[in-house]
Amino acid sequence: MELPVIDLEPYLDVVSGKYCGDEVLNPQLKTACSEVSRTLKETGALLVKDPRCSAQDNDRFIDMMEKYFEQPDEFKRLQERPHLHYQVGVTPEGIEVPRSLVDGEMQNKLRSLPKESQPLTPSGPDPKWRYMWRVGPRPSTTRFQELNSEPVIPEGFLEWKETMDSWGSKMISAIEAVAEMAAIGFGLPKDAFTALMKNGPHLLAPTGSNLERHGKEGTVFAGYHYDLNFLTIHGRSRFPGLSIWLRNGKKVEVKVPVGCLLIQTGKQIEWLTAGDCIAGMHEVVVTNRTLESIKVASQENRSLWRVSSTGSAGFPCGSTFFSALVQLIPCRASVAPFSPIPPNDACCTALRVLGQPCLCVLVNGPPISGVDRSMAMQLPEKCNVNFGPCELVKEEVRT
Ligand SMILES: [Fe+2]
Repeated sequence: MELPVIDLEPYLDVVSGKYCGDEVLNPQLKTACSEVSRTLKETGALLVKDPRCSAQDNDRFIDMMEKYFEQPDEFKRLQERPHLHYQVGVTPEGIEVPRSLVDGEMQNKLRSLPKESQPLTPSGPDPKWRYMWRVGPRPSTTRFQELNSEPVIPEGFLEWKETMDSWGSKMISAIEAVAEMAAIGFGLPKDAFTALMKNGPHLLAPTGSNLERHGKEGTVFAGYHYDLNFLTIHGRSRFPGLSIWLRNGKKVEVKVPVGCLLIQTGKQIEWLTAGDCIAGMHEVVVTNRTLESIKVASQENRSLWRVSSTGSAGFPCGSTFFSALVQLIPCRASVAPFSPIPPNDACCTALRVLGQPCLCVLVNGPPISGVDRSMAMQLPEKCNVNFGPCELVKEEVRT
């Protein structure tokens, strides 16, 4: 199945300074906006072309990430920050666990899908590396300096910061344009989604999968899952392997044309549209087509690291400190000071539903009796939930 490609240029031309209301959008653009919202609803995915994100930009980014992932493990582990729960720097392969491996409810749902649409069953944690890089302004004041320390930059990569910041912000700009078009398509004000994205956790979190070591057909690099954010964006990968599930449960392998970006719906858009859009399920697996690309890359002496330039935009917490606290009641036993009790299924589910921004609201809130903040911050790791880092805001000293 071919997903439609939406060219963002005509929309960007209109909105750059001139757009002041719905009446300015010509019928063609209105149709494009409706197509954005309809495609997101039906497929959970969308292909876009953004003149600001060129194929050359994507290549420059992937070239740098290939060079990084090709470094020896000992070098990459210097960028590992397990004490910060891998929220910055590198996450080695074998750490991220696909939801389908631990979620019994999801496993039951999967068994009800027709055979040809069932995802592959991963045998363990994902064999892929990831690099977490925050996009956007950092908090000016922090309570915990170590969590907001400067981003981790591997030694010898002089172009790192500029390349990450520039590709990251370009991809987030593309998400913003799609979010505006989707809002218009849903009949909402154009800033209905983007206003919520302000100060949200935006991340560039590329993954690297070693096809030389794990290039066997059927290897699961990212087990069947949905993303927890609002929208995820990917530049075109040099190796195919991504499959998505349409709303009707059909599994489809995605082909991203050169110069295009792929957008996927996350859990936050599902909540925000009250289920009109649902979080898109997807997996990354070594397929027949991946094998063909591996063959060509080997012949051309190119890197056999599959880089996926994942970017994600999320919302800050929409609930109050108190309601966020109530939601995490199932985790009470696991966040007590010095508690040896690992979080149970109910707690991990509550944590996923709560979302990273609201966990950060709790962590930044007033002291809670019986709750150890650092235990609370370890919940995502213990529950295998890949949340982005919290902005830990310093409390004003009032005298
Ligand atoms: Fe994903």
